[in-house]
Amino acid sequence: MRPVACHNHNLTMDGVDLSAIAAKAGTPCYVYSAATILENFRAYDVAFGDTPHTICYAVKANGNLALLRLLAQAGSGFDIVSGGELFRVLKAGGDPAKVVFSGVGKTAAEVEEALAAGVGYFNCESEPELALIDSLAARRGANARVALRVNPDVEADTHAHISTGRLAHKFGVDIGEAEAVYVRARRHENLSLEGVSCHIGSNVMQPGALMEAADRVLDLVARLRAQGFHIRNVDFGGGLGVQYRPEDAAPAIGEYIGALRSRIEGTDLHAMVEPGRSIVGAAGVLLARVLYRKNTGGKEFVIVDAAMTDQIRPALYDAYHEVLPLRQSGRGKLTVDVVGPVCETGDFLARGRELAEVLPGDLLAVCTAGAYGFVQASTYNARPRVAEVLVENGCWRVVRKRETYADLIRGEEPEKE
Ligand code: LLP
Repeated sequence: MRPVACHNHNLTMDGVDLSAIAAKAGTPCYVYSAATILENFRAYDVAFGDTPHTICYAVKANGNLALLRLLAQAGSGFDIVSGGELFRVLKAGGDPAKVVFSGVGKTAAEVEEALAAGVGYFNCESEPELALIDSLAARRGANARVALRVNPDVEADTHAHISTGRLAHKFGVDIGEAEAVYVRARRHENLSLEGVSCHIGSNVMQPGALMEAADRVLDLVARLRAQGFHIRNVDFGGGLGVQYRPEDAAPAIGEYIGALRSRIEGTDLHAMVEPGRSIVGAAGVLLARVLYRKNTGGKEFVIVDAAMTDQIRPALYDAYHEVLPLRQSGRGKLTVDVVGPVCETGDFLARGRELAEVLPGDLLAVCTAGAYGFVQASTYNARPRVAEVLVENGCWRVVRKRETYADLIRGEEPEKE
């Protein structure tokens, strides 16, 4: 469910007037709905029911501390891919035992940090990584719980940049070689080889591919168990898509988890998932103000104060985000490109879009922007990163201040004598 609705011709989030937020917090800014985030988390939790499970929210989708705190308090675990994400989770009060450390390029320093924090699991993506974790765990006299991330060679129907489950991709270990890897890994005395994990891509709209991957992984688990490996944990990754276009239907969390659950019922396996987008994606909007209108080359441009620096998904993945005026004016519709101030033709938020006519000063919401929005922001063109706001229980508050010019040059000033 999207939290944005229209009341008396004004867009609101969970009953809070978005224009009022824009007026006080300024634009551009991201606004998130706590209720929607918790609702999505609970949809996962409820669907698993009494099947042993851990939901490890993928921090990369949106790592704002306030959101992480919300999820930690709701009982979520976390999927991290860097020492920085671990730092965020710990700051937010996340339980390290419910953290899974994924990623194809963990550094020794990051592995050390994770061992020191006592993360629950390492999802390992190569044999050299297994060896590294083993040696660092041995030095501490510790044991690291490890799952091998396998690459099931399943095509996820999504943008090429975010499809990860084919053998040609850099991720995981070829599922056909996984048994041999597990056998060789037996020599690592400081690893507990207790799990198998996979992740085939993001924004997957047809759960069929996710189920195919799950089936391949579960077949592997059965073979490993037959060989005496004590596999207790299966991590099915993240990937469930959300509704970006009005005409799309988002895959239902409950149905997907129900299907996973039916596959593992009757086994003693502990299920894990790593959802990011499906928890926070629909919960966020990016607010922008119209600066200018311009017609050139036969095209109508709406120039706004938000740019690809704040929301790069359209430029990077040709992504579609619905754009809505905050006030329904009753003006006619025009076909426009909504573009930002950055000096690149790729700086657009929407292209060839039908939009009710807007004028300078009007406000727009770029919808379904809670996932992979702020986290992919940059300061290109020396644009300070924007503010983030959380709407909770009918109130709102800034959960990340807008950056200042001073933030832009932090660390660049010559050292003071
Ligand atoms: N687990 C692993 C190992 C992942 O690599 C990812 C996402 C997830 C979980 C979470 O996937 P989700 O449930 O959010 O689909 N920046 C891109 C998306 C990149 C996704 C990378 N991995 C975008 O804006 O579409």
